[in-house]
Amino acid sequence: MTIANLQSTREPSTPLSENKHLLRWVAKIAELTKPAHIHWVDGSQQENDTLCAEMVESGTFVRLNQELWPGCYYARSDANDVARVEDRTFICSLSKENAGPTNNWVNPFEMRRKLKELFSGAMRGRTMYVLAFSMGPVGGAMSQIGVQLTDSPYVVVNMRIMARIGLPVFQEIDKDNKRVVPCVHSVGSPLAPGQKDVPWPCNNEKYIVHFPETRQIWSYGSGYGGNALLGKKCFALRIASNMARDEGWMAEHMLILGVEDPSGEKTYVAGAFPSACGKTNFSMLIPPPAFAGWKVWTVGDDIAWIRPDAHGRLRAINPEAGLFGVAPGTSLKTNRNAMAMLSKNTIFTNTALTPEGGVWWEGMTDEPPAECLDWQGNRWTPQIGKETGAKAAHPNSRFTAPASQCPTIDPAWEDPHGVPISAFIFGGRRATNIPLVYQAFNWTSGVYVGATMGSEMTAAAVGTVGKVRRDPMAMLPFCGYHMGDYFRHWISMQHGLSETPRIFHVNWFRKNGDGKFLWPGFAENMRVLKWIVDRSHGRALGQETPIGWMPCYEDLEWQGLESLPRQTFEQLQEFDRVAWRSEVMAHEELFLMLHDHLPAEMVYERELLICRLGTGREPVHAPIHPATPSRNDLEELL
Ligand code: GTP
Ligand code: SPV
Ligand code: MN
Repeated sequence: MTIANLQSTREPSTPLSENKHLLRWVAKIAELTKPAHIHWVDGSQQENDTLCAEMVESGTFVRLNQELWPGCYYARSDANDVARVEDRTFICSLSKENAGPTNNWVNPFEMRRKLKELFSGAMRGRTMYVLAFSMGPVGGAMSQIGVQLTDSPYVVVNMRIMARIGLPVFQEIDKDNKRVVPCVHSVGSPLAPGQKDVPWPCNNEKYIVHFPETRQIWSYGSGYGGNALLGKKCFALRIASNMARDEGWMAEHMLILGVEDPSGEKTYVAGAFPSACGKTNFSMLIPPPAFAGWKVWTVGDDIAWIRPDAHGRLRAINPEAGLFGVAPGTSLKTNRNAMAMLSKNTIFTNTALTPEGGVWWEGMTDEPPAECLDWQGNRWTPQIGKETGAKAAHPNSRFTAPASQCPTIDPAWEDPHGVPISAFIFGGRRATNIPLVYQAFNWTSGVYVGATMGSEMTAAAVGTVGKVRRDPMAMLPFCGYHMGDYFRHWISMQHGLSETPRIFHVNWFRKNGDGKFLWPGFAENMRVLKWIVDRSHGRALGQETPIGWMPCYEDLEWQGLESLPRQTFEQLQEFDRVAWRSEVMAHEELFLMLHDHLPAEMVYERELLICRLGTGREPVHAPIHPATPSRNDLEELL
């Protein structure tokens, strides 16, 4: 059966699978949630067009001006459903111990009872879509399959971009009884007979629930992003991190990119930055003009599944097929690739809507439109924005765009065996203390660097924006088990490797005293990336400091950025022992919380770091490595 000949004959309620377990489970959830209809999603263009037309009709979607934005739609969410809800996210492992102190835990039996109550009749008056999806290319050795039952057509059309869905996946399920992760999702807003729907149905009570042992996901009350597109954070990170630990691989919140140098040599790196901290932008970097012959290729922008191959080399796939990217700040200047990618067949959520039927967000153009409708549908003008501080687009407004439309998509991006990884880059959003770039001494010290990463909180999650929190490996909201065991898993991954990737830390967000970014970022990050690639091949110089290897000014390429004073570079790289002592105290706070699962290596690494930092009695501006004890030191010793 092909999609084309299926269409003319197809009745959406007819199952697309013969798998008995799947059929039984669909019937069971329908019995519980009481949908008016069941629709097996084939994934075809025609089906997608119908769903979009229905959503335009119901008010969920605005069809954008098709001349300016071909194939694009616009949605405004409910004001209470704009980001991931970390405090409503649960890891319901059998033992609380296994979820660890950084996850919310509820006894799974109690949670199942609660879910039964919540989902009972939750889909009344709505259609339940049976959405089969593959994370990774269909049938790929590193890929995984899920089936999401959802009462949100918005979720279906977004998932069609974000994952491989529909008939080919059902066929894969039927072929050899593949493991399937069952995902149940409801917006939690049943309709009484005759009741008119709202554009963005949701519920103020939200539950994003994971059962790690049985690999199940239940999500209630939200239609937005990671709360609702269950293949993404729920499956590809929280459930997959459990699979990965059990099976010896890694599921990480990482971008994957390939750097091609003028000789044609290609080096792939993976980078973990917390939510809204620059993964999408870094993965699509366009090198500045001075880097003639250099090219950055995009493999993925958010999630990496990584596994050692038969030769002991780590290889990574991007399990996703699309990008759910932060809109604000995206422009032709900062990310020309993203602008090209989202110019067609894209869904925009919570951006502003312009009078000509286009979208706009802060930072898209230097000049804001004279007027538009903001993300809540209110009239917005630059003047109103100035007076009230209201943003036209929500800070977490996003675009859902097919990865295949990215101009720099890597030719190997769908290789089922993935691409070889030469380096890992950790990065946070830090106004102070953290240098632009440094390299860890070795794998364990690199794991320590990742484990103790801190970052300012962003609008990607509901909560306090701007506060620094520990976000180990950018996985704090996404690790589906005990964080201490996760560090142990990272350490043990090296044991089977013949080539160990180098580990780096970057910070594009250091500020000067006036609160301005010291580093221009975006394309200029290429200068740092080149040093990383060169170091990974043992080619570039650096100097040793207590926290790792750092480039000197001369070690970076500056052609085309001569306007950045050497002094600013030194400010960017400044390593302040006193400030780092408080950093280490913050590391300790995390470690205390995790202590009973913390691998010994983390404790040793911390001790070594403290020793390298010194006593704190040295003058603050002491050179980083005094060649001989200074007179002061000698006097103190005597
Ligand atoms: P998630 O999709 O939430 O996981 O986020 P992400 O890590 O992919 O973040 P993204 O690349 O979308 O960047 C988020 C915000 O940071 C956007 O507003 C960007 O404009 C901004 N940003 C990205 N890279 C840089 C940079 O190098 N410098 C500065 N100053 N801002 C950046
Ligand atoms: C993130 O918050 O890290 C995202 C967006 O990538 S969401 O899919 O909503 O989780
Ligand atoms: Mn993310």
